[in-house]
Amino acid sequence: MDKILNTLNDTKLINLNKIENSKGNLTVVHNNKEVPFSVKRVYYLYDVPGGETRGGHAHRKLEQLIISLSGSFDVLLDDGKERRTIKLNRSYLGLYVPQYVWREIVNFSTGGICLVLASLPYTPEEYIRDYNEFISLKKNINRVA
Ligand code: TYD
Repeated sequence: MDKILNTLNDTKLINLNKIENSKGNLTVVHNNKEVPFSVKRVYYLYDVPGGETRGGHAHRKLEQLIISLSGSFDVLLDDGKERRTIKLNRSYLGLYVPQYVWREIVNFSTGGICLVLASLPYTPEEYIRDYNEFISLKKNINRVA
């Protein structure tokens, strides 16, 4: 299926494993196992002022898994038809976001750390940073699909 047709139904919350220990828990992830793609880049957002918003964009080619390593934030997802907000506040939960789904990371708690595992190196050309452009791309494709 053409990735441009992706909807909120193609996003998913993935329960990563948790190795529990009284001295602290541990989560391990592997390419193409818990992470449904091969990771080519890792970045993380930290020292974000409480209440701040980051990352309003969609991708043409990139898939990502978003994890809250500390604190909490909300991920606003938008496929051009529907919007949904998912709270991430557990280090063993990953939110999978495929291509052509708009996402914003909002409502950071003070001390929140957002880890992003990405399927591609940083390639500014494959970002869609203009929400109106995103909506018109999705609307045009929905008209012909
Ligand atoms: P940006 O994607 O604009 O962050 P956000 O959407 O969360 O506000 O990235 C901020 C800056 O960091 C921008 O100048 C691009 C740069 N950057 C890289 O150089 N490499 C990367 O992998 C990422 C994610 C960002």
